[in-house]
Amino acid sequence: MSAEKTVILGQTVRRLDAVGKVTGETPYPGDINLDGQLWMKQRFSDRAHARVVAVDTSKADALPGVVRVFTAKDVPQNEYGLVIKDQPVLIGPGSSSQVADADVVRCYADCIAVVVAETEAAAAEAARLIEVTYEDLPAVFDPLDAMQDGAPQIHVNRPGNILCHYKIRKGDMAAGWALADVVVEGEYRTGHQEHAYLQPEAGLGYIDEQGRVTVIVAGQWVHEDQEQICHALNLPEEQVRVIYPAIGGAFGGREDMSVQIVLALAAWKLRRPVKIVWSREESILYHHKRHPTVIRAKWGATKDGKIVAAEAMVIGDAGAYNYTSTKVMGNANLCVTGPYEIPNIHVDTYAVHTNNLLTGAFRGFGGPQGAFAAEGQMNKLARALGMDPVELRLKNVLREGSLLSVGTPLPPGVSIGQVVEQCAEQSYWQRDGDGWQRPPTPQPDDPAIRRGIGFAAGFKNVGFSFGFPEQSWATIELHGDAEIEEVIVRHAGAEVGQGTHTVMAQMAAEATDVPLTKVRLISHDTAETLTSGSASASRLTFMAGNAIRGAAALALERWKNEERPAMGTYQYRPPKTTPYDPETGRAEPNFAYGYVAQAVEVEVDVETGLIRLVRAVSANDVGRAVNPQLVQGQIEGAVVQAQGYAIMENLITEEGRILNPYLSTYLIPTVLDVPDEVKSVILEYADPIGPWGARGMAEMPYLPLAPAIAAAVFDATGIWMDSIPLTPERVVAALREHGIGVF
Ligand code: MOS
Repeated sequence: MSAEKTVILGQTVRRLDAVGKVTGETPYPGDINLDGQLWMKQRFSDRAHARVVAVDTSKADALPGVVRVFTAKDVPQNEYGLVIKDQPVLIGPGSSSQVADADVVRCYADCIAVVVAETEAAAAEAARLIEVTYEDLPAVFDPLDAMQDGAPQIHVNRPGNILCHYKIRKGDMAAGWALADVVVEGEYRTGHQEHAYLQPEAGLGYIDEQGRVTVIVAGQWVHEDQEQICHALNLPEEQVRVIYPAIGGAFGGREDMSVQIVLALAAWKLRRPVKIVWSREESILYHHKRHPTVIRAKWGATKDGKIVAAEAMVIGDAGAYNYTSTKVMGNANLCVTGPYEIPNIHVDTYAVHTNNLLTGAFRGFGGPQGAFAAEGQMNKLARALGMDPVELRLKNVLREGSLLSVGTPLPPGVSIGQVVEQCAEQSYWQRDGDGWQRPPTPQPDDPAIRRGIGFAAGFKNVGFSFGFPEQSWATIELHGDAEIEEVIVRHAGAEVGQGTHTVMAQMAAEATDVPLTKVRLISHDTAETLTSGSASASRLTFMAGNAIRGAAALALERWKNEERPAMGTYQYRPPKTTPYDPETGRAEPNFAYGYVAQAVEVEVDVETGLIRLVRAVSANDVGRAVNPQLVQGQIEGAVVQAQGYAIMENLITEEGRILNPYLSTYLIPTVLDVPDEVKSVILEYADPIGPWGARGMAEMPYLPLAPAIAAAVFDATGIWMDSIPLTPERVVAALREHGIGVF
């Protein structure tokens, strides 16, 4: 093989997984079958809040084809959870669980039993035949109600249903308000959002050739799934294995467990392969959603546009269990004052339990909710001051050394000022003297259509925050004799569809100076890799890149010393972060950030209330675009997913039950809805500790879109609409209230 070494890093190389996925050859968990496999179905709760007094499985057991029904008593340590193990695997009387009241269902997504049968139909029928006796408990569905005295309590050890309360106390509020010439206030509401990944939850449990309880499933972190299975089944790590085949999207929706533990339980007890595939309806009903929030904000500025005070209260609906709520709301707490230097800040953020849907990780991880309020406040301030929104931002953006709300500076490499300017320049703004201005928006001839333009910015962390021990392992093996013939990379980071495996291979090729064709990646298997942390928090390029670079350096050193194969195993650990101080919020929350700004153009049909996103310009500092086309794909994907969040996706619930668990009634953007143009402005201001300067980037372009759309709708109609989604019904109601659209 001739070494046609080309520049690999920074090039759009074809995705390693492209051909298999587009031809349909690549198997996803639901496509995999094993000889002699049985089928599983789960029986979920019929109540939002009730004590399960009895579970009678006799009719299910007697059904032909049924092999076994598992209930709470069958789970050795009946609890799980990514951050706090506060949810029983199966709910019912008599189990061994550290969760108080492990016999209480707290939402419709609680699972009571699993049935394993010879066929899927028999399993489904048997699941229905299980008779559950409930003793109803009072339920609460509004987080504001749940905080009131006398509200039903969902966890005995979480008084007031308050899962967490973060405070930020910076500066002197009275002094800040005294300096303010204008003050704007808003109450913002954001809704649930369903991840709607292409591939619903599915998996297989079996005993592998070495006797390990093995689960093939789609997730975001194989070693974390393994840990939670080990805990629930009380098995040592070496007896449990987790493998991901291709993963059909994740977006945070696979961070928490779905079918992993129950599949492992069944395979372990039955010693036979067991398969489960959730329907789309089951997927929407039983995995968590983005946290809905209510945010009250009050900001003040001097007449020359300097923000002097910001106050906010953020209430997030945490649903019945933690999932990642404490972390998500921690992020909302940080993002709710935006990427701005504000001397006086007072924020209270709560995650509150209800008997509603489970809520947890979703692209942006609390950032979008915070940004919706922060950027709404900025746009309202600009209006109140008669100042251009770009100008106002540039007067207040965080600079190198600026103190965050938490009283500490951002890590070096702060680029939000440049990002805001680039976005303005590449979209609708003109620099005039030293100021930015936007010429008036030309209006269409049709009087029913109003056009508007809006702007918003954002910042988001890369990697795990607030003191979580962040790390990532990689191994590089150099095979060959005189020259390197093959580079094997072992890294567990999940390819959820974002292209990370291609990026890892590019970084490994760069680090070992070989052509990409010589790199082979081994991933997604706890038996073959060390832990690498999850595919989340926009962290994999950054974390895997640094780990791969470290491992390659070690391997190359040994290669020079004639070791064959030459191996290097390296654990990358970024600078330490710290949690919020409970009283002041002081913290060093993150070790790296990505910065973004967006301008959008919308058309509002004032007769029907339909909003069309015509164009979005997204300027993103990605540090270094390892693979520019993948970066562009992430920007476009984030814009369209946030477009759904902002104007289309409306999950309807009634007393904790989802009424539209179908993609025919819960509408996500299709190719007919996407903007005419998404202009990706890719900026490369290197992160000083990022691999080759790269920052994480996949969540950031999600953050500003909803507030930019709200600003554009204001520009078009003169109405601030502070509750998303901006569905036609909501928009029409607001327009009519203002006498608009009545012809
Ligand atoms: Mo993500 S929302 O950090 O999985």
